[in-house]
Amino acid sequence: MTRIVYVNGAFVPEAEAMVSVFDRGFLMADGVYEVTSVLGGKLIDFAGHAARLSRSLSELEMANPHTDAEWLALHRELVAQNAVVDGMVYLQVTRGNPGDRDFAYPNPPVPPTVVMFTQSKPGLAENPAAKTGWRVISTPDLRWGRRDIKTVQLLYPSMAKMAAKAAHVDDCWFVEEGVVTEGTSNNAYVVKGNKIITRQLSHDILHGITRAAVLRFAAEAQMEVEERPFTLAEAQGADEAFITSASAFVMPVVEVDGKAVGTGKPGAVVARLREIYLDEMRKSAI
Ligand code: PDD
Repeated sequence: MTRIVYVNGAFVPEAEAMVSVFDRGFLMADGVYEVTSVLGGKLIDFAGHAARLSRSLSELEMANPHTDAEWLALHRELVAQNAVVDGMVYLQVTRGNPGDRDFAYPNPPVPPTVVMFTQSKPGLAENPAAKTGWRVISTPDLRWGRRDIKTVQLLYPSMAKMAAKAAHVDDCWFVEEGVVTEGTSNNAYVVKGNKIITRQLSHDILHGITRAAVLRFAAEAQMEVEERPFTLAEAQGADEAFITSASAFVMPVVEVDGKAVGTGKPGAVVARLREIYLDEMRKSAI
């Protein structure tokens, strides 16, 4: 089945989709994106992703080309056209094609480029890695200072992912001034007793949509939540650790820089959080 993608108002076979070589997304990484999971053909936490998209665009002084209702209709149409049961919808909005290369933003603005596509991942929520957990290594956080904006400039996280692959582990945790910021494409947490510790929101990390939901559910389940930075040593000495993202949901982390976390196996708190998250999100999927 040929994948159908969305480009600037049209649903077309992927081989027919075109974006200009002068697009600022291509030349300057001048664009933002969102990744929304699909489970059972329905969108997970769509409202959260739509709200963050709006915020990312406004932080970069770009107009939002669609209302949330229009974005929802586009997502649903793409899921339907590609018969996605489990997987993701990727969406990207760039500052468009000014017709030439220039560091300054086009003035007046040109129409943004809007691209969307699906990735089918049958059994996404039954990922066997959730039973064994991820092993991570650490690396200095050399990204820019506005990580709260979900931009498409992902080269450093890609380099970190390659370092993880070279070390035969699953991911990297970024470290800045002696404390963990986040993972290459996920938020990071440790568990100590009944307490979940994760870095507070700021410009230093992406404001994860999964993070917000998981912290809400944790509080509802009478777990204590402490939002502050933690060190690698604290992670290594914790009972459990985990990451969250729209595509991995809640994923245990069982090893940090070669040292086992807790028993070195996924623990009960993270397993419970994953279960609550998936249950609640399936219920509210649209
Ligand atoms: N990544 N931190 C970073 C740097 C991320 O790239 C992501 C998401 C997250 C988690 O955010 P959320 O819970 O809203 O997915 C945290 C997406 C999944 C990606 O790039 O594929």
